[in-house]
Amino acid sequence: MADLSEAPHLRDLRTEAPQQHAVIDTDTLSRQIADLGEWFHNLDLYGVHTAPHHFLGDFPNIKWQWISQAIPQDLTGARVLDIGCNGGFYSIQMKQRGAEYVLGIDVDDRYLRQAEFAAQTLGLEIDLRKLSVYDVEQIAGDFDYVIFMGVFYHLRYPLFALDKIIKKMRGKLVFQTMVRGSDQVRAWADDYSFWTKDIFLEPGFPAMYFIEHSYSHDHTNWWIPNRAAVEAMLRSSGLKIVQQPEPETWICAIESATKNGRYILDRELDGTL
Ligand SMILES: C[S@@+](CC[C@H](N)C(=O)[O-])C[C@H]1O[C@@H](n2cnc3c(N)ncnc32)[C@H](O)[C@@H]1O
Repeated sequence: MADLSEAPHLRDLRTEAPQQHAVIDTDTLSRQIADLGEWFHNLDLYGVHTAPHHFLGDFPNIKWQWISQAIPQDLTGARVLDIGCNGGFYSIQMKQRGAEYVLGIDVDDRYLRQAEFAAQTLGLEIDLRKLSVYDVEQIAGDFDYVIFMGVFYHLRYPLFALDKIIKKMRGKLVFQTMVRGSDQVRAWADDYSFWTKDIFLEPGFPAMYFIEHSYSHDHTNWWIPNRAAVEAMLRSSGLKIVQQPEPETWICAIESATKNGRYILDRELDGTL
């Protein structure tokens, strides 16, 4: 039984203990968690875990233990956009660090319901909307932190998404993708002749693996980059890498999101890039 005396919104989950302490009814909580379907995020809701048997372990805590150190403890006043928020793990972490406004977006109703439930259960004000990364331009304002974790490789049009996201940044991007292939990174020339072919046989040349059918039993895994490709694409979208807190996560700031005064995305779309 967890002490819930500071969470008045949870009356329906509580019973009053003899000592007048508000306590959570963990049976009810467990049932409500189960009713929300299978969870991808293993959240700790007052001692009840939402995905205790996740195939990646205690996910995404295993990632957060590294990434959390690269994000300020105090986010007072910050605006955060969590793209592909899933069950809300990262939104919750950012709100618990004092972010003023956290918006989580996802395309999946089940995950959004889970995130809503988790935020309410923890008494956190997190805005959740059903919206695709491809539609981020519909969101008003810009953000001190954009979290874009675990979505890139699920997209058929990954750079299209990245070039859109930059338009919503005024601070940092926390970017994570599955990576496969070589983890070599080295400098490449700005240009090669048409007849130079050997570079494409080098394992460290930036490359994306295209998954025609399915990978990890998931047909939404479309493009899996090697490390060099991740870093090259981030730069190509106008970002500079400021930190890599764990092997699959890069923290970026804006280097130059525009070319001659216009966004890379807009120039590409009208053929002037
Ligand atoms: C592998 S999960 C990653 C969840 C979370 N960001 C994390 O890193 O733990 C991918 C998430 O991206 C969401 N997603 C997939 N396509 C999306 C899109 N076009 N726009 C927004 N979210 C999307 C999925 O519904 C899912 O919640």
